[in-house]
Amino acid sequence: LRHLLTLDGLPAALIRELLDRAEALLPHAHAGTGLRDRHAGRTACTLFFETSTRTRSSFQLAATRLGMDVLNFDVGTSSTKKGESALDTLKTLEAMGVDLFVIRHADNGAVAELAAGAAPGTRVINAGDGRAAHPTQGLLDMLTLRQRKGADFSRLTVLIAGDLLHSRVARSDLHALRALGCGEIRVCGPANLLPGDEVLHGCRVFRDFDQAIAGVDAAIMLRLQRERMEQGLVPSLEGYYRDFGLSPERLARAAPGALVMHPGPMNRGIEIDGGVADGPQSVILAQVANGLPVRMAVIDALMG
Ligand code: CP
Repeated sequence: LRHLLTLDGLPAALIRELLDRAEALLPHAHAGTGLRDRHAGRTACTLFFETSTRTRSSFQLAATRLGMDVLNFDVGTSSTKKGESALDTLKTLEAMGVDLFVIRHADNGAVAELAAGAAPGTRVINAGDGRAAHPTQGLLDMLTLRQRKGADFSRLTVLIAGDLLHSRVARSDLHALRALGCGEIRVCGPANLLPGDEVLHGCRVFRDFDQAIAGVDAAIMLRLQRERMEQGLVPSLEGYYRDFGLSPERLARAAPGALVMHPGPMNRGIEIDGGVADGPQSVILAQVANGLPVRMAVIDALMG
């Protein structure tokens, strides 16, 4: 593996290997000790053309835990504001000795284009491009599911609900769930926020959330991405919560012990009730915590 740009087409064995590697790195991820020699002398750069809290911070910590020098490039105060292109920015930083770029960009395919323009020895990880892919989120979601529900995904029914149209997390989760042989994948959302069959093939599509959540082992709730919506697409927030919000009553319809998941950031009271997000079935902060070993595992696999 030279770059990690998408989970689409990644063999199940490689996904499992990355999850196993993340499990092995868990003690080092959270203790913050023990692996400082592993990639010492190598340099990682987070190059984010879109905002982030979780992904950017956990990549910074992950690279630091592995002994790398970490350059947290601030696009907002950079010469991109003078018109320098993203590729010229990457090549400039590459000339300073950056070995690994972690890139987030608003445009679908932009990270793959930058990877194609990078020098042969440079590694690139996609930290989210447009609505296309967020592969490390997909991996950390699978790790969280596997830790709590076991490695046999064929026994699981997983629901992905909300604004799937704009969600790169949904696309990466779908690729991973299919690769790992998930028993049943359900999706539910407003008709105008569901993508087509090219994304949802093999999924059971529901318009009624009460039916969709009945008996599921996990519900992955998605943020309503209003910043990506054209005027007219944005639903009434009250109506959205009424029809597609995860309330305590709706959660009671899921299987006993069902997991509540959300990639964050959350809109409390819009796609998820605050008490459900903080409740005993929520693994939302466990997902965040798993971001660190997963990102260490991916960096470790790419850096060799
Ligand atoms: N889940 C996720 O990508 O969160 P951030 O936008 O905060 O990185």
